[in-house]
Amino acid sequence: MKKPGMIHLFLPVMLLMALSVLAACGKTAPVETRLIRVGFSQLGSESDWRLANTRSMTAALSEENGFELLFDNAKQRQENQLLAIRNFIQEEVDYIVLAPIMESGWEDVLQEAKGAGIPVIIVDRQISVEDEDLYSCWVGSDFREEGELAIRWLEAFLQQHSRAGEPLRILHIQGTEGATAQIGRTAALEHAIRRHPEWEIIGVLPGEYTEAKSYELVRDFLKTEQDIDVIYSENDNMSFGAMQALEEAGLSYGSDGCVTIISFDAVHDALQLCLEGKINACVECNPLHGPRVSALIQQMENGKTPEKRNYVEETLFQADTLTEEQLREREY
Ligand code: AHR
Repeated sequence: MKKPGMIHLFLPVMLLMALSVLAACGKTAPVETRLIRVGFSQLGSESDWRLANTRSMTAALSEENGFELLFDNAKQRQENQLLAIRNFIQEEVDYIVLAPIMESGWEDVLQEAKGAGIPVIIVDRQISVEDEDLYSCWVGSDFREEGELAIRWLEAFLQQHSRAGEPLRILHIQGTEGATAQIGRTAALEHAIRRHPEWEIIGVLPGEYTEAKSYELVRDFLKTEQDIDVIYSENDNMSFGAMQALEEAGLSYGSDGCVTIISFDAVHDALQLCLEGKINACVECNPLHGPRVSALIQQMENGKTPEKRNYVEETLFQADTLTEEQLREREY
């Protein structure tokens, strides 16, 4: 069984010894560094967030940074992710990085990775496994807290507009069922509904985090129901789709409109719309995990055990306080 980290620690020591012998003889030798082989199973390319995440990962795990990256895009299908991981095991990579489409269904394949002695790092969404030793660590967002940020904003917004306590009709556009981002953001809304009997969810649409799906679902929904106060959309791309459908139906939205839009991710285009007052509030979900994953691998290479769960700090942007400067500073 391969012991993680051992080979990489051993080789540099041997190399140093060889170099000192050569130096003592007054000769020099070309220094060869071994690349760390990483297999990265990305769940898909469903959103602007995901594209930014892939860019961050591939840039950080580049050859110049000492990595050989085996990248696989699973096109939003868990079975493709399982195939990719099995392929990485065959390839005897040093590390497997997994951005899982959903929380369940990983036990068997991760058992195989463990059997092969390959450490697994989970990024973005989480996995649900009985044996927590099946993966080394996770880095990503606190999705429940993102939802709570959105709800706190909505409560304050209603208060500010003297609408607290009034009936509120919410259209909920959900991300991929069973994904941590969906579970956390949905839980925050459902929890708020229990606290606010005057709030009502008038529809739950499975938008799968894509603009096209959300557009179609909202367009069809609006054919029979147009009395909507709030759209709670679990990512920016689904908000874009919803906004297009609202426009086509002749419904106004945003700061000066009838429908309040709450969105998640805060990618550049969404913040531009927020600045223009078309999205009322946008909760940040940070996709720049590449350097974080690279740092976790370096820790393991140095024989350290990283923290099991690594949360990223995030904020909320709102139309009435967002500035041009904040938008310019946006990296994704
Ligand atoms: O898991 C993070 C979510 O996945 C982002 O909110 C969404 O845009 C992406 O597809």
